[in-house]
Amino acid sequence: MTRRTGLSIVVLMMLILTGCSKQAVDTIMSSTDDPLNDVPDVNKQNRKISRGINLGNALEAPIEGEWGVILKEDYFRVIKEKGFNSVRIPIKWSAHTTDKPPYVIDSLFFQRIDWAVNQALSKGLSVIINLQHYDELMQDPVKHKERFLAIWDLISEHYQNYSADLFFEVLNEPNNQLTSSLWNEYLDEAISVIRKKNPFRTIIAGPASWNSMDYLNSLYLPTKDKNIIVTYHYYNPMQFTHQGTAWVTGSEDWLGNTWLGTYEQMNSIIQDFDKTLLWSKLSGRPIYMGEFGTYYRADMGSRAKWTSFIARQAEQRGFSWAYWEFCAGFGVYDPVKNEWIEPLLNALIPPAS
Ligand code: BGC
Repeated sequence: MTRRTGLSIVVLMMLILTGCSKQAVDTIMSSTDDPLNDVPDVNKQNRKISRGINLGNALEAPIEGEWGVILKEDYFRVIKEKGFNSVRIPIKWSAHTTDKPPYVIDSLFFQRIDWAVNQALSKGLSVIINLQHYDELMQDPVKHKERFLAIWDLISEHYQNYSADLFFEVLNEPNNQLTSSLWNEYLDEAISVIRKKNPFRTIIAGPASWNSMDYLNSLYLPTKDKNIIVTYHYYNPMQFTHQGTAWVTGSEDWLGNTWLGTYEQMNSIIQDFDKTLLWSKLSGRPIYMGEFGTYYRADMGSRAKWTSFIARQAEQRGFSWAYWEFCAGFGVYDPVKNEWIEPLLNALIPPAS
């Protein structure tokens, strides 16, 4: 028995013991054309996640359910059924990890994440897991750096034998005290930590200042590592997409803002996307627009127009995308009626495509 077969059997047994069916396990271990023993083609990897949905407000809440969303098996099924090929799962690991070394991630939480990742993979969806809402790291990066790297060490070890359809996104929206230069330093170290156990896994990383495209020029990535996709988040114009949100001060005043697809409205988005495309071409890095979406308080006609325009603009430039988010305030799915919100779904996945 080779070392690799031995490992696979151990992993297989672990998955079966943690409640995963043999059939689901087979799919997880073989759900990709690219075995995880070589550097994959990063552009091909990006195409695998070309149309995705964020399973937001679930596992990045302090406790799943606190923000109104508990993931269900059916969600993965309906997402796949409608033609999406990936899910991004935001995760608040920092709320489930001990404060002091030796850092340990709560095993029940890990099992819950395993369940979610396995659900996605067994349904044929690629899956991106990230570190989301690590607020203490943003407030006091120096104090939390060691813990941040330790969390990645633990995640990286845990998922090392998963298929290449699992992607690691290093950190959602670095901001506040985690400045561009600190972020470059921490990112570089996090990539080294991940590469120890996951030399061939595709990593996703984005610029400082909330993954803003305006900071792409200050993002440093290890030149030799080609297996990295660069992410940015797009919510412009904020006065439209974030009208009436509780967490953006003053956004009640934005209620009633529309997006009608006027020349000016379209043009400013086109300029933004062209700038990002130029950066992508110059740097040779593929782009993943890991979040874009509109809050439910904007009118549906405008929301659908904006969503469709953004998704198509991304696709025309070869950017993959993930809508923010599935079934909460920006949602494209009504979890009470178990129904898609058709205008938004059609904007994301045009019926003819
Ligand atoms: C945040 C969410 C927020 C969304 C839109 C995400 O990056 O994690 O909490 O709802 O952006 O503002």
